[in-house]
Amino acid sequence: MWGMRATTRCRVAVVSMPEASTPARQIAADGIPAVDVVDLTKDYRRPRVSLTTPGPVVHALRGVSLQVAQGQRFGIVGESGCGKSTLLRILAGLEQPSSGRVAVMGQAVTGRTERSLRFLRENLQLVFQDPMSSLDPRMRVRDIVAEPLVGLRLGGDHAARVAELLSAVGLDPDVADRYPHQFSGGQRQRISIARALAPSPGILLADEPVSALDVSVRAQVLNVLSDLVDTYALTLVLVSHDLGVVRHVCGRVAVMKGGQIVETGPTAQVYDAPTHPYTQALVAAVPTIGKALSGERAADLAAGVRRARDAAAGQA
Ligand SMILES: Nc1ncnc2c1ncn2[C@@H]1O[C@H](COP(=O)(O)OP(=O)(O)OP(=O)(O)O)[C@@H](O)[C@H]1O
Ligand SMILES: [Mg+2]
Repeated sequence: MWGMRATTRCRVAVVSMPEASTPARQIAADGIPAVDVVDLTKDYRRPRVSLTTPGPVVHALRGVSLQVAQGQRFGIVGESGCGKSTLLRILAGLEQPSSGRVAVMGQAVTGRTERSLRFLRENLQLVFQDPMSSLDPRMRVRDIVAEPLVGLRLGGDHAARVAELLSAVGLDPDVADRYPHQFSGGQRQRISIARALAPSPGILLADEPVSALDVSVRAQVLNVLSDLVDTYALTLVLVSHDLGVVRHVCGRVAVMKGGQIVETGPTAQVYDAPTHPYTQALVAAVPTIGKALSGERAADLAAGVRRARDAAAGQA
């Protein structure tokens, strides 16, 4: 079975799993973090608005440091534009930072040429937000899922591997002949996940993997993803603006604001006792059954969020 870490077919089942509950989620014996980020910055220059004035600089990342242990499920949350996708793109070696270092499984990612990043392409894969735009509409599912195998020149029976992966994500292997437009959004994201898993990576990065999907299928796709992470003992870095998603799936979370990490810790702790005013605002903005039952009205909630936001702005 193509070097996968386990042979059982994925169940589409329960998601919630505290990070320390299985040995696979603890730091591996060698102690090397799956992802090690040190003091990362990324500046973009926007296009100039006049001939004499250079375009403004956007500080997308401002000194981000974090470690993700092998087997950990690490969530990144934060408002739109705070730098989450930029961080993931640099982790995946798709962009270079302005300064700082990234190592994946102890090997440097930053400052290397594309040709020398083969280890990264084999060990780390990305699932994007919008499966419609990330899947080539002219390719059949079999070729889409096999693409990383072809790109990395991995041998073996590609057709058998594709069938195995489609089953693992809960699709009938017979769909391999179809094109992306013949699927629902949720099914397309399952195909994206199958493609990401094709080279048996140890690390999966997922950038808002369910936010483009209909609410009714979000939980199903999230369960598939979570189940596969469990089955194959993957390390997961999951970006989402939805606190509920990260709380459900991840054992550890980093909260980003304005290109910086303002708070990090075990998910339950960050959610139950947030220390940074911005995190408090995020948590306060999540409607809960408890708040609804206690009669807290939308206006009360909005006022609470405004107060916490103002406090955060004062601290930033
Ligand atoms: N290629 C680019 N050129 C110029 N600015 C960019 C570029 N990519 C990102 N930015 C800017 O960098 C900042 C961070 O963008 P990024 O996409 O990482 O945010 P995000 O947290 O992923 O947001 P969202 O939740 O909306 O996806 C934003 O201000 C964005 O406009
Ligand atoms: Mg983004």
